[in-house]
Amino acid sequence: LATKEVDIGAVEAGQAIKVVWQGKPVFIRHLTERELNEDEETPISALKDSESRNDAMPGEATVENRLQQNNFVIVLGVCTHLGCVPLGTDSGDNRGDYGGWFCPCHGSHYDSLGRIRKGPAPQNLAVPPLEFLSDTNIRLG
Ligand code: FES
Repeated sequence: LATKEVDIGAVEAGQAIKVVWQGKPVFIRHLTERELNEDEETPISALKDSESRNDAMPGEATVENRLQQNNFVIVLGVCTHLGCVPLGTDSGDNRGDYGGWFCPCHGSHYDSLGRIRKGPAPQNLAVPPLEFLSDTNIRLG
């Protein structure tokens, strides 16, 4: 498995970046306290897909099983409907009705943990294998 190191030190709360790993976009987002509170208040019963979609933290799609350290969310930027790249990473992007990502191809709305909330996509955005090497560096893969 090819790995990739990414410096995330410059990603402030409220910001996100997109990198490419193994030919696929990966979204790296630093959540604000407000976004985190909204995610924490969302019951599992309100989710369309209750699975964490995180091999490292299997189980329910809770904040604990989707959030990385230092309030980072790291997900594959591949819509689980038909594979478009959702918007919500660049500044000024439409982040959708739940403040995360919005897939313009057929209208799927993801929250800031990358959980599908509305639209045709069947699954939460997948969490790739990764490791924090330090507070500011991660390795994908
Ligand atoms: Fe994203 Fe269809 S590919 S909604």
